[in-house]
Amino acid sequence: MTADAPVLVTGATGAVGSAVRRALEAAGHTVHGVSRKGGPGPGQHAWHVGQEEPPDTLRRPWRAVVHCAADTRWNLPDDEAARANVDTLRAVLALTDAGTHLVHLSSSFATGLEGDVTAASPDAYRNSYEWSKAAAERLLHAERDRADIVRFPIAMGARADGSLDRYSGFFWLPAALCSGAVPALVAEDKALLDIVSTDDVAAHVTRLVAGGPPDGVRLSVLGRGDRAQRVTEAFDTVREALNDWRAEHGLPLLDGLPYVTPEQWNRFYLPFAEEYLDRTQLLRVTAFRAYQGYLSVTEPFAVTDQVEDTTGTLFRSIRLWASTHQTAARRTPRPWRA
Ligand SMILES: NC(=O)c1ccc[n+]([C@@H]2O[C@H](COP(=O)([O-])OP(=O)(O)OC[C@H]3O[C@@H](n4cnc5c(N)ncnc54)[C@H](OP(=O)(O)O)[C@@H]3O)[C@@H](O)[C@H]2O)c1
Repeated sequence: MTADAPVLVTGATGAVGSAVRRALEAAGHTVHGVSRKGGPGPGQHAWHVGQEEPPDTLRRPWRAVVHCAADTRWNLPDDEAARANVDTLRAVLALTDAGTHLVHLSSSFATGLEGDVTAASPDAYRNSYEWSKAAAERLLHAERDRADIVRFPIAMGARADGSLDRYSGFFWLPAALCSGAVPALVAEDKALLDIVSTDDVAAHVTRLVAGGPPDGVRLSVLGRGDRAQRVTEAFDTVREALNDWRAEHGLPLLDGLPYVTPEQWNRFYLPFAEEYLDRTQLLRVTAFRAYQGYLSVTEPFAVTDQVEDTTGTLFRSIRLWASTHQTAARRTPRPWRA
């Protein structure tokens, strides 16, 4: 592959893909982007990857393809998750040949409940997102001798100001803290919440592209690893950021949530809730359940590339979320009543 061929970024309008696209451009690459809806500018193409044939303009040699397109929702039916996260990679593989440097973005959570991506059964994963991201990694191993896989945990915004091009499901949390939809902090005592900045991912991918394809299938795992914030500390950071913004706007400050372990929650609070709460409250509790597994990870991710502290990045990202989602950030939590 010629060194001056352009780089293609799929999912180039998303939270991570946008940062990757900008970092590659800043490093001097000619970058083309792909997303379902397409983006502004001549290098941004609309292509529903996995569902449509690629536009002719994309059938050309690429120096590298950075595959960020995915559907990160946790609650898709298995077949939809597979279409979104496995068929997309299959289409990217068909667009490229073995000589293209393929950089595939994955999730630290793709290792599911068993700690690796080998299990094919959905039972080995917390949800269809993890399962489909693991399936994509297995597909890549089966189809390519040389490629990069980059796993990372929850991505917050830019280190400088917390800015994100798109807000993912994680931002349900600050919204829920402001509305009172989360009745308690349900987490294991020593649970960790590993977080990176989109800058970390973008800088890492840019370094990989500069270095060219690896000799085999190379795995990078970005994160704080054993230095990740505890879940309880991260919740404090989120609340401090919200309160910082709320104080500036003369709004009442949010109290800390009562802390309970998952066992206490599942054995005592949930059966009580199911008996006494109204339908809306129950729906909120059920939505919250999806997050529980992520607040109970006590084993740090085995990172290959430890990123700088992300406490400030989390603070700035949440604060910026508040100033860009004022209706949600201004709400006053209503106390839970059965
Ligand atoms: N955000 C995180 O916290 C996080 C953490 C770990 C790993 N990751 C991984 O990082 C990657 C990027 O995630 P993200 O958070 O940036 O996602 P995102 O903000 O939801 O953006 C998804 C991007 O992919 C595009 N896209 C989705 N499906 C597509 C399809 N079938 N064809 C074409 N474009 C498609 C979207 O374009 P349209 O809007 O036009 O559809 C958008 O540009 C994913 O592989 C994800 O698994 C993310």
